[in-house]
Amino acid sequence: MRKQNALGTISLVGLIGFLLIIFAFPGHGTSQTPAPASESCVSANCHVTMGKEKVVHNPVKEGMCTTCHLAADDPLKKTRHPGNLVISLVQPVADLCTMCHEPKNKKKVVHAPIQGGDCTSCHNPHQSPNKGMLKDVMPNICFQCHPDSMVKHAVMHPPVAGGDCSGCHDNHQSDFPKRLVNEGNALCFQCHPDKEEGLKTRKVAHYPVKQSCTQCHNPHGSSAKAMLTAPVPELCSTCHPNEVMLRQRAATKHGPMADQKSCRICHDPHFSDQPRLLVTSQMALCLACHDKELETGKGKVMNMKAFLEANKNTHGPLKGDDCVSCHNPHGSDYWRILVKYYPPDFYASYSEGKYALCFSCHDKAAFTERRTKTATGFRDGEQNLHFVHVNKVNKGRTCKACHEVHADSGQNAHVKQFVGFSGWAMPMNFTQGKDGGTCAPGCHGEKRYNR
Ligand code: HEC
Ligand code: HEC
Ligand code: HEC
Ligand code: HEC
Ligand code: HEC
Ligand code: HEC
Ligand code: HEC
Ligand code: HEC
Ligand code: HEC
Ligand code: HEC
Ligand code: HEC
Ligand code: HEC
Ligand code: HEC
Repeated sequence: MRKQNALGTISLVGLIGFLLIIFAFPGHGTSQTPAPASESCVSANCHVTMGKEKVVHNPVKEGMCTTCHLAADDPLKKTRHPGNLVISLVQPVADLCTMCHEPKNKKKVVHAPIQGGDCTSCHNPHQSPNKGMLKDVMPNICFQCHPDSMVKHAVMHPPVAGGDCSGCHDNHQSDFPKRLVNEGNALCFQCHPDKEEGLKTRKVAHYPVKQSCTQCHNPHGSSAKAMLTAPVPELCSTCHPNEVMLRQRAATKHGPMADQKSCRICHDPHFSDQPRLLVTSQMALCLACHDKELETGKGKVMNMKAFLEANKNTHGPLKGDDCVSCHNPHGSDYWRILVKYYPPDFYASYSEGKYALCFSCHDKAAFTERRTKTATGFRDGEQNLHFVHVNKVNKGRTCKACHEVHADSGQNAHVKQFVGFSGWAMPMNFTQGKDGGTCAPGCHGEKRYNR
């Protein structure tokens, strides 16, 4: 890949001599008129183009050819340079340049051509039409030795597309890997101060963002949006395989996971003021979509926002902006993307596992002790009415037969006012007193319990 100019001092002598002749005599060295050594090297006949280009090296401008070139008499007349001169460089190139410039090989990472002292692989020592006396414009000069594939991505980082390699790489040397002008994220912060600010001031920062931007972004470009190393959600799956797998694997899938933006709908990839990098509070997040009736393909999902606006007496978890203790927003194997099993039907034979969802917060003793004085308030004397209704082999009533799980309009114990039963909104007629209560649902006549 290296096309560097590997002229040694010895061959330089010959080559320069030869070239000087060509320059001096457009007739390809056939003219016999020698130029006196005392004359300037640049004249109407000799080195006529020297100093004419857009950028001229200061010593050339000053006509100081002999600070770099040694012109010695050639008594043997072996060279054909006018004036019987042998032209050589006063020093090897690297040392030549450091006569006037700071050495460029003092830092930890030195660019390979400079390690070889090869300043002239990029710079013309005299003049050039290009900025910095480069032999070609930026970034083409770099592509003499590096593949230009790095500027051919579908999505390019603007400074790279603009050829501003020097915005990030020192051309000569640096103390940082890959000769970057700054280390790690500090490089990115130079031009993206909002990200530095965000990591400092926002409550939650995504761990890999603190570590290194380049874990997710290719600094030059990539085929994905925002130069991501892979598109979302594949990007996230390298570190969060479980969440991403649920898109396909879950028995109950959640709509937004299949959306093109997927994870980005709910999470900020960098930082946030919300737990779990959420873009907004959970309630606001969920209700932003659940503000209308939605279709799952197997049926309808009610307008939860309207429901919660009409029913202000929310169930404990909802008071704390918490939907995810019951629902997995990524998808689940249970009905209604619930995190644990919960019966979808009005009737179910009892087992502990069927109420795993409710029992993650409520004591199962309220349903397993046939007689109790303490486990539940839903009892007649010591007869546990939860047990009576729920704990049956056949046709046990599920919690939903009596309770609202999200909110109600102020009922005690979140008992429903109406229960959906085969399309009929069956009234509960539940009233609760100090020592018990009464209910008169469609299932049976009015019944009273006393504790
Ligand atoms: C800063 C040092 C420096 C100065 C000053 C300098 N040269 Fe050179 N010159 C070089 C180097 C180094 C080379 C060899 C180029 C290479 O290796 O690619 C060279 C090569 C040449 C060559 C042959 C190849 C070419 O580039 O044309 C000519 C002719 C030449 N110089 C003429 C001059 C003249 C005339 C002057 C004064 C006007 C001058 N140089 C001043 C460093 C210098
Ligand atoms: C005799 C002193 C001298 C020598 C030898 C010398 N330079 Fe320079 N060079 C200067 C001066 C003076 C400037 C203008 C001030 C500056 O930019 O430092 C300059 C400027 C430059 C620039 C900036 C040009 C621009 O306009 O952006 C480059 C690149 C450069 N030199 C490369 C070299 C290389 C490569 C060599 C060795 C082949 C070399 N110099 C040898 C004195 C020298
Ligand atoms: C790989 C290519 C490359 C090599 C090799 C290289 N340079 Fe440069 N150099 C550059 C580029 C690119 C710039 C910036 C040009 C611009 O945009 O102004 C630059 C700028 C400079 C400048 C002016 C700005 C500054 O940094 O002071 C000097 C002087 C210079 N180089 C000297 C040298 C010397 C001396 C060597 C050999 C030790 C050398 N360069 C080798 C690419 C190179
Ligand atoms: C004359 C050939 C040559 C030119 C021109 C050249 N490079 Fe390099 N560069 C190399 C070589 C050789 C390496 C070391 C090989 C490697 O590690 O892949 C290298 C390595 C690098 C590295 C890796 C860090 C390091 O120093 O090891 C970066 C970054 C780089 N070059 C950037 C640039 C940029 C930017 C330009 C244009 C201003 C440029 N190169 C021009 C030859 C060149
Ligand atoms: C926005 C900053 C930025 C710009 C602009 C930039 N680079 Fe880089 N470049 C980087 C970073 C960061 C790395 C190190 C990547 C890594 O370690 O994974 C790198 C690595 C490289 C490497 C080494 C590649 C390797 O696989 O080791 C080369 C060569 C390189 N860049 C050349 C260039 C060239 C040429 C340009 C201009 C066309 C350029 N860069 C512009 C940030 C930049
Ligand atoms: C020299 C300045 C500069 C540096 C250094 C820099 N960037 Fe940028 N970056 C820009 C500019 C300019 C844009 C386009 C405007 C914007 O989106 O802010 C941009 C845009 C981006 C974008 C959005 C691209 C898109 O398609 O939407 C990402 C992602 C990015 N940069 C990441 C990085 C990372 C990661 C680093 C550190 C490796 C970095 N940048 C370093 C200048 C820079
Ligand atoms: C965990 C992966 C990840 C890390 C680490 C990461 N980003 Fe991003 N970044 C993304 C994703 C995903 C996008 C959004 C792309 C989209 O719009 O869909 C993005 C977008 C961006 C954008 C453009 C949109 C915006 O938010 O401004 C910039 C700029 C950016 N990132 C800079 C950075 C910087 C700087 C760092 C390091 C401090 C960094 N990123 C670290 C994943 C990451
Ligand atoms: C519909 C909104 C939504 C979508 C889409 C979404 N998430 Fe989440 N995600 C959440 C919520 C809400 C939480 C908080 C769960 C909690 O606190 O237990 C969360 C939590 C997480 C967590 C932390 C889990 C833990 O146990 O700590 C990770 C990791 C995660 N999501 C990754 C992803 C990935 C990757 C994607 C895309 C494949 C994605 N999320 C898509 C809403 C979403
Ligand atoms: C390079 C690995 C990596 C990538 C890629 C990655 N993450 Fe993370 N993510 C982590 C690590 C590490 C944590 C911290 C885990 C912990 O604290 O237990 C984390 C935590 C999270 C959290 C929980 C934050 C909290 O407050 O607990 C969410 C949500 C998350 N990531 C979402 C995403 C999303 C969305 C993507 C894709 C845009 C993504 N991650 C890409 C490594 C990654
Ligand atoms: C970006 C819009 C969007 C967001 C945000 C959103 N959902 Fe959904 N949700 C939907 C859509 C569309 C459906 C219906 C399609 C499907 O998933 O089958 C749905 C379905 C559901 C279902 C019924 C699933 C079924 O198949 O029975 C539940 C439960 C649910 N979402 C809860 C939540 C919760 C909890 C949150 C907040 C953590 C939330 N949603 C955030 C769009 C969203
Ligand atoms: C205590 C557990 C729990 C909490 C917390 C919870 N849900 Fe539910 N959710 C359920 C259960 C159980 C169902 C099944 C339907 C039923 O029994 O009414 C359900 C059903 C749903 C449905 C489908 C309703 C339908 O039948 O059409 C949506 C939408 C929904 N929940 C959204 C949310 C949102 C949004 C939050 C947070 C504001 C939330 N849930 C909090 C347990 C919960
Ligand atoms: C037949 C209707 C009915 C069914 C079915 C039912 N409950 Fe209840 N539940 C009640 C009534 C009535 C109360 C109020 C008792 C009181 O305090 O007077 C109650 C009270 C509660 C309480 C408050 C504490 C207590 O035990 O007094 C919790 C928690 C509770 N139920 C959870 C559940 C769960 C979980 C299920 C499903 C496993 C369920 N219930 C099934 C009617 C029912
Ligand atoms: C994440 C924990 C959590 C889960 C899971 C949970 N609950 Fe609750 N529940 C609470 C809290 C906290 C309260 C007390 C605040 C209130 O009255 O809403 C409560 C109260 C209740 C009450 C009223 C108790 C009273 O004394 O008035 C009923 C009934 C109830 N839950 C039923 C259920 C049912 C049915 C399920 C399963 C679908 C369930 N809960 C799942 C936390 C939870």
